[in-house]
Amino acid sequence: MCGIIGIVSDKGNIKGRIIEGLKRLEYRGYDSAGVAIKTDSKIFVHKKKGKVYQMEEELKGANFPSRVGIGHTRWATHGEPSDPNSHPHSDCRGEITLAHNGIIENYQELKEELRGKGHRFRSQTDSEVIAHLLEEYTGEGANFLDALKRTVNRLEGSFALVILNSKEDALYFARKDSPLVLGLGEGENFAASDVPAFLPWTNRVIFLENGEMGKLTPSGVEIYKFSGEKIDKPPTTITWSLAQAEKSGYKHFMLKEIHEQAKAIGDTVNPRINRDRNSVVIEELPISPTEINHILIIACGTSYHAGLVGKFYLEEIAGIKTEVDYASEFRYRKPVLPPSTLTIAVSQSGETADTIGALRKARQGSKSLAICNVLGSSITREADATLYTHAGPEISVASTKAFTTQLSLLLLLALYLGRERGIITPEQEADLVSKLLALPSKIEQMLRSQEEKIRQIGIEISSYRNALYLGRHLNYPIALEGALKLKEISYIHAEGYPAGEMKHGPIALIDESLPTVFIATESKVLDKVRSNMEEIKSRRGRIVSLISGKQPAIEELSDGVIRVPQVDEYLYPIINIIPLQLVAYYAADFLGHDVDQPRNLAKSVTVE
Ligand code: G6P
Repeated sequence: MCGIIGIVSDKGNIKGRIIEGLKRLEYRGYDSAGVAIKTDSKIFVHKKKGKVYQMEEELKGANFPSRVGIGHTRWATHGEPSDPNSHPHSDCRGEITLAHNGIIENYQELKEELRGKGHRFRSQTDSEVIAHLLEEYTGEGANFLDALKRTVNRLEGSFALVILNSKEDALYFARKDSPLVLGLGEGENFAASDVPAFLPWTNRVIFLENGEMGKLTPSGVEIYKFSGEKIDKPPTTITWSLAQAEKSGYKHFMLKEIHEQAKAIGDTVNPRINRDRNSVVIEELPISPTEINHILIIACGTSYHAGLVGKFYLEEIAGIKTEVDYASEFRYRKPVLPPSTLTIAVSQSGETADTIGALRKARQGSKSLAICNVLGSSITREADATLYTHAGPEISVASTKAFTTQLSLLLLLALYLGRERGIITPEQEADLVSKLLALPSKIEQMLRSQEEKIRQIGIEISSYRNALYLGRHLNYPIALEGALKLKEISYIHAEGYPAGEMKHGPIALIDESLPTVFIATESKVLDKVRSNMEEIKSRRGRIVSLISGKQPAIEELSDGVIRVPQVDEYLYPIINIIPLQLVAYYAADFLGHDVDQPRNLAKSVTVE
C-alpha cells in the first residue's frame, strides 16, 4: 500500500519536509524509504531498505537547493524489500523519477514491450514500468502532461503517483484506486497519500477522484481527467489539528488513541442528537427506514468485528434481519440479496481494497451506506451515502478509537431505525441516548481507576505463548476483537471464542499454560459464562475477568479482575473493548515490540 508525498515550493527545506511527511505516512508501510530531489537539471535519488529514520540518518548533512521533490515509504507487494526495489524509480536516463502506491496488474506485458524497445530495468517492481513508459512517450516529443495522459491510459490496476522530471520545477500526479490528496499552501503545494503528511504546512486540501491527474507548481494547480479534459475542483478545509495527528506526549500512537476514545465517541454521537428529545438525527440514508427489509454489513479486520456487534443492535433494536460478511469472502460469492437490502460498508480508512470490491458487488443489488472515518475516501465516494465516525486520524496500525466510534454509530443507526419503524418507543430511544451521552465520562473514570491494574495484567499475559478470550452474546465479538488486538501487536497467539462453544473444542486446550480472558460484565447470560469459568478453573486454567457491579463468585474464580463501570447492556461492548486494547498494548510494550507498526501489518490494506 505505501505512502507517497511530493512537495513543490518556493520556501525550501524540501528534503527535511519530505522526510517529516514520510514519518507521518509510515503507518502505510515501512519496508523501505526513499526520496528524489531535483537540483538544477539533475534528480538526486536516495533509497534504502529500512525505516524513514534510517534514511534520515544517512542523509544528515546533505543539503539540496531545490524547489521540488518526492518521497516514498513502502509496503512490499511486487519484489522483496530491498534497495533496488525501493522507490522512487527512474527511467533509463534518470530524467523521470516517481513514487507509486498501488499495483500495476499488466506490468509484465508492459515490461516485455519496453524491454523490446531497449529499456533497461533495475528492479523487480511493477512500479518501474511507469517511469519507462513516461520516458517512451516524452521521447516522442510530447509535453509531459500528454505523456502522462498516454501512460495512465495504458496502466491496469491501481495507482497513486507523484512524478518529477529533470526539466521542470513541477510535480506531476495521477490517481486511480489508491488515495491521493493535494494540499494547497502559500507559494507551495503538496500531494500525498494522506492529509497528516502535509498538515503542518496547509489544511486546504483537494481529494482527487479516480481518473484524475495533473501538475503542481509552487503557485499553481492544474487538474485533468485521464481523457485530457481540464477540471476545476474547489479545496476543502480540514479541521484536524496537527496535535491530533501527532503523539501528544504518549509513548505510542496506540496509547494516545486508546485514551482519545471518550472524546471520539462524544464527537461522533453529539452532532447526531436532538437534545430537546434525546432523539437520533440521521438524514443521509439512501432508503427509507420502513422500506429496509434486510441489512448486509461488509467489512474487514476490526471493522468486521464492529459489524458483528452491529448485527445485535440492528436486529434487537431495529428489528431488521442483518447478515455480516467478511468483505474478502463476500466479493467472490454469488450472494442472494433480498429486495430492499441496505448494504453497510464499515471501514476506518475507506480504502480497504476488499471492502471496496465487496461494496461494488453489493451495489449491483442494493442501496449502500458507508460508515467511515476518512473524509473523501474511496468507499465514501462509491457508497450511496456515508455516516462519518469522528474519531480523528487513527495512526496506529492496530485500530482502537475507530472501532468504538463505529459501534457508537451503529447503535445510533439502530436506534433511529427502531424508532422510525415503531420497534422502540421514543422514550426507550431517549433513555438509551442519554446513557450513550454519559458513556465518555464513564470511560474516563474507568481509565483513571483501572489502567495500572490493566498494565500489570498485560505484563502477566506477555509471559504466555497463547491466550483464550471468551465472551457471549453482545460480548462474543468483543472476545474476537480482544484476541485480535493481542495477536496483532504482541505476537502472542490468541483465540476469541463464544463462551458457550468452549465445551465443543477449546476446552481441550485448557491447562495452567493457557490463560483465559473472560468478558463477564452484567448480562442475561452471565450465569452461563460463570459456569464456563468453573469449567476452566477445575482444569487449572488461569482466569482474568472483566466484571461490572458486585460479582463475588466471579472474583473468587478469577486470578485477575478488571472493573468496568455499570452501563446499559448495549453499551458494554463499547466500554469492554477498551481494557482489552490496553492489555494488548501493555503486553506488547513490555515485550519491546514496535506497537504502532507491528510486523507484516499495514494500517490500510489497499491490495487484495
Ligand atoms: C487492516 C488494519 C486493521 C483494520 C483492517 C480494516 O488490516 O491493520 O486494523 O481493521 O485493515 O481496515 P478498514 O480501514 O477498512 O477499517
